[in-house]
Amino acid sequence: MLDERVLTISGEADIVTARQAARQFAAALGFNAMDQSRITTAVSELARNVVRYATNSHGVVHVRETEAGGRIGIEIVVADEGPGIADTEQAMRRGFSSGNGLGLGLSGTGRLMDEMDMKSAPGEGTCVTIRKWRR
Ligand SMILES: Nc1ncnc2c1ncn2[C@@H]1O[C@H](COP(=O)(O)OP(=O)(O)OP(=O)(O)O)[C@@H](O)[C@H]1O
Ligand SMILES: [Mg+2]
Repeated sequence: MLDERVLTISGEADIVTARQAARQFAAALGFNAMDQSRITTAVSELARNVVRYATNSHGVVHVRETEAGGRIGIEIVVADEGPGIADTEQAMRRGFSSGNGLGLGLSGTGRLMDEMDMKSAPGEGTCVTIRKWRR
């Protein structure tokens, strides 16, 4: 039975909770300290985007164990029902921000993880799935 944790985000304080949950989970799965930090930073950026851009700063985070081809990994899904993103390619581009951010969150997340998939459309919210495999 693969393990899973589900957390709700409703404000700034929940970014810390999501970070802690991701780190604990990654450690329990046997990720090294460097990868634990990469995973924690990635979750932090996605959670921060929920707080900043989603309606009422509301979203949900799933942290779960995953397996493929005999490899163990961590899969994190961060989803919200906020305004969504019209051009996801543009949003993922390093340096693009619709607000006054640096526009480094999503591109950085992609570099820190092994896989990243973003589904979003105007009025349909945003769902980002990230994965990292244990080495
Ligand atoms: N959950 C979301 N809902 C709606 N729009 C989002 C969401 N996450 C990201 N975006 C859009 O994608 C853009 C790029 O996000 P990214 O995290 O890369 O940069 P940023 O948040 O603007 O700045 P930074 O993360 O560097 O502080 C955002 O400016 C915003 O327009
Ligand atoms: Mg951001």
